[in-house]
Amino acid sequence: MTDLIVAVDGPAGSGKSSVSREAARRLGFGYLDTGAAYRALAWHCLDEGVDVEDARAVAERVADFDYAIGTDPDFYFVRVGGEEITSDIREPRVTAVVSAVARVPEVRQGLTELFRRIATDSDRAGMIIEGRDITTVVAPDARARVLLTASPEARMARRSAELGSEPTESTAQQLASRDAQDLKVVDFMNAAAGVTTLDSTELDFEQTVQALIDIVRAAPSA
Ligand code: DC
Repeated sequence: MTDLIVAVDGPAGSGKSSVSREAARRLGFGYLDTGAAYRALAWHCLDEGVDVEDARAVAERVADFDYAIGTDPDFYFVRVGGEEITSDIREPRVTAVVSAVARVPEVRQGLTELFRRIATDSDRAGMIIEGRDITTVVAPDARARVLLTASPEARMARRSAELGSEPTESTAQQLASRDAQDLKVVDFMNAAAGVTTLDSTELDFEQTVQALIDIVRAAPSA
């Protein structure tokens, strides 16, 4: 197991992926984007013509899910069955169904085991793992545990910037509806006991990265 796990949770548009990745790069740590795994499984289900509302059919796909993800922050990739799908998993058709896939208990259990295995196999000094249930389920004993939040307005502005568009009513609705779906499964809006809340609403990217690094550096040693 890598020596120092940093668990980062937060809602869509909080900036947690870009912030976690840059902090990992500067700290010389690995970086694990767990949302990418849920997205890859959703992509795989679509690719195989699996009905994503059929929990049993989705669960069956987890057992032989041939998945690989890069944990080097400078060399990020996602592959399924050897096929590179790094950008495909961000397509709206995948985003639209990923919540349905992520609420299947067998999926959560299978991917949680996979994340722990990836962290165990890493030979880096540390690893930042980011998602929705990392501070509570995947790595509740992580040395540093952070909930990265931002106001709905800030999150929407960032999501629109990512998509290269103006904020629209439909972007806001999509974000709110995905949050609502995902919140049925795991609470990533309220910090669990012992988790540090980092509110990035008034911070720019650089300040948020620095704040996360400060939290990691202040974490108690093992
Ligand atoms: O962070 P993201 O938007 O790429 O996450 C994609 C989906 O995966 C999101 O709708 C919620 C789900 N997810 C989850 O349930 N648990 C995680 N640890 C990470 C993501």
